[in-house]
This record gives sequence, structure tokens and C-alpha cells, in this order.
Amino acid sequence: MSIITCIEDLRVLAQKRVPRMFYDYADSGSWTESTYRANNSDFAKIKFRQRVAVNLENRSLASTMVGQHVSMPVALSPTGLTGMQHADGEILAAQAAEQFGVPFTLSTMSICSIEDVAANTTKPFWFQLYVMKDREFINRLIDRAKAAKCGALVLTLDLQVLGQRHKDLRNGLSAPPKLTIPNILNMATKPRWVAGMLGTKRRGFGNIVGHATSVSDMSSLSAWTQQQFDLSLSWADVEWIKQRWGGKLIIKGIMDPEDARLAVESGADALIVSNHGGRQLDGAQSSIEALPAIVDAVGSQIEVHMDGGIRSGQDVIKAVALGAKGVYIGRPFLYGLGAMGGPGVTKCLDIIRNELDLTMAFCGLRDLQQVDKKILLPGTF
Ligand code: FNR
Repeated sequence: MSIITCIEDLRVLAQKRVPRMFYDYADSGSWTESTYRANNSDFAKIKFRQRVAVNLENRSLASTMVGQHVSMPVALSPTGLTGMQHADGEILAAQAAEQFGVPFTLSTMSICSIEDVAANTTKPFWFQLYVMKDREFINRLIDRAKAAKCGALVLTLDLQVLGQRHKDLRNGLSAPPKLTIPNILNMATKPRWVAGMLGTKRRGFGNIVGHATSVSDMSSLSAWTQQQFDLSLSWADVEWIKQRWGGKLIIKGIMDPEDARLAVESGADALIVSNHGGRQLDGAQSSIEALPAIVDAVGSQIEVHMDGGIRSGQDVIKAVALGAKGVYIGRPFLYGLGAMGGPGVTKCLDIIRNELDLTMAFCGLRDLQQVDKKILLPGTF
């Protein structure tokens, strides 16, 4: 492929370059994948109002997310096993995000550790926390994130149990991959990926090394999740984590206005309207469909962010118009990483920034802060 023009181009290239088990891990949702698909297709139903002959000089996409300046309100989602899309993936993505002036969020289930990313970046990144039964382990993770001067803690609440993803089970997903004959044959067709992996030592779950149980494969990941993740998780735990952390707290995985109100009561600084990219409750609403009711319920009391299905700058501006103070992209940056490593993440962000900027101009606006529902065609959202 010679010219990369859109996120779909990055996806196609990633599919060629990343071993099937890791490409499938990124590009899949749970069960029938209906929520995964709706996350994106529901954006397409929303239409813009085109405006003409307005002064479009000196446009600005700058904003803030939880008080932090961002060059555009688009953060990178926390994604597990990112270092399996490309060797040292979390470090490369964090560096690309830092250069671009947008937040990178490191997953608990990352390959590169908190310390790896901190040692290779100069500005604060964000850390995503899953709540596990072992509270001492959670305390240590929070302390490590503090020591690394992470700028915000993103607390994911929608994974007490794991949504079943058929492809992962069929592929026997594991990190590092098991050297079965089908895996070796598949990896033999991905020489760049293999060369990258041979050149790094980061091939296991960096943050949970030393934790009681290691993760071997995805059929056991479901069992591991049940064993390690806290089924009794409650809002009282959120308050305890908030106190221990002491910094900016973002609650991830809110899909219902009632839960949004509880997130406000917990004292969080922001919430993310998210169905985990369609990977958890299949049959849940798309995030963009869920967003307006949550903004109506709590938008005046807390920053409302969203993720799920954003594949262009046009999707970003639609979410902002519907009240999102910021959005996150997961698969788009993973595709960029799998396709071209760090420069692929930069390419992904570039594509989104250009689409966002041009769409804002077509809607007759110069500053992202002016974007609201008025740019959307009534009856289409
Ligand atoms: C995720 N997501 C996720 N979320 C989280 O809080 N912790 C995690 O470790 C992961 N891991 C993960 C892995 C992969 C491969 C994907 C695709 C997603 C969910 C993620 O943060 C985000 O909610 C979605 O990816 C957003 O949807 P899009 O942008 O991928 O459509």
C-alpha cells in the first residue's frame, strides 16, 4: 500500500503485518459483535449542517481533559497487550501521543510496565486500573503510578467478568504466543513483527510480573479474571481508590445515567461513556447513542468523555457536539501501531486531526470550543 489516507488503510496494513492472534484480539467484540459494529455504524446516522462563507482563518482544536491541555480532545484508550501489536508498543504509542500533545493511557494489562513507559517519556501519561481482589497488589500499582507521576488514574468498572470473544478462544490467545505449528507458520509470514519481538525482552504482562498468578492463555484468562478480579467491587471501593490515589480520577465504563450519577457522587473528575469497545456486554447500546442521556443527567457536574467506534475526526466532532469534553481511540491507534510502529500511531493521530479540522471548517466554525449540537442536523441524533 503506497498512500495511507484513512484509518481503514491502517487497519488493512495491520492485518497484513500482525500475527493473526493479535490482530484478531484487537479487531473483535464479544459474542455476535453487534455492539462492536453499532459503536461505529451509529456515528454514520448523525448528519452535519454544512455552512458557507464564514471566516475560517486561524482555527484551533485545542482543549482540556481533566484540566490538562490537549492539542485536540482525543486520548489513546488503555488497551491490553499493546506490546504484542508491535514490539515495545506501549512505549512507542506513548511517545507518539506525547509528541502530539494528547494523553496516552497505559493499561493494567500492558506488556511494557509503568516504569518502562515512564523511563521512555518526558510528560505524564495516564494509568488505567482494574480492581483485583488482592488489595495489596492494587495499592502497589497505585503507588507505582504515583511514583511515575501519572497525570490521571482511569478506573475501569465494566470488567468484573470477561465478555466472551470467540476469536480469542479459537486462536488460543496468549502472550507471548505459544509456539504451536499454526502459530509458527502464521508468524513466518510476518517477518517485521518477528524481528521486532526478537529485539525486545518485553513479551509478558509487564505490570503483573510478580503477582500471584500469571496469565497463560485466553481460555484460562476468563478463569484468571474470575479468580483475580473482584466480583464484590462496589462504589465504596471507588472512594477508597480515590483516596489512595489522590489525583485526577476518571471512571471508565459508564453506560447508564443512574451509574453516571453514582460516578458524580464518588467524587470522580470525569467519567467515560464506554462499552469497552463492544468487548463486554454484547447487545448494549452503542456509546454514541448512550452519550446524550448521560450528558443531560450529569454533564453540568462532571466532565463526560466517551469512547467506542471512533474511526475518523468526523466521529470525534460528532461526539463533542453531543457533549463529550473528550474522546478516546482504541483500535485506530492499535492499527497504526501494527501497521507501522510509532510512526503509524502518529499517522493515525494526524489523519484524525485533519479530518476534525476540515469538518469543523465545513460546519462554519474556527474553534473547537464553539462546537455544540447546532452543527448537527436535527432529527439525526
Ligand atoms: C481494550 N479496552 C480496554 N479497556 C480497559 O479499560 N483496559 C484494557 O486493558 C483494555 N484492553 C483492550 C484491548 C483491546 C485490544 C481493545 C480493542 C480494547 C477497551 C478500550 O479502552 C476502549 O474502551 C475501546 O477500545 C474503545 O473503542 P474503539 O476505539 O476501539 O472502537
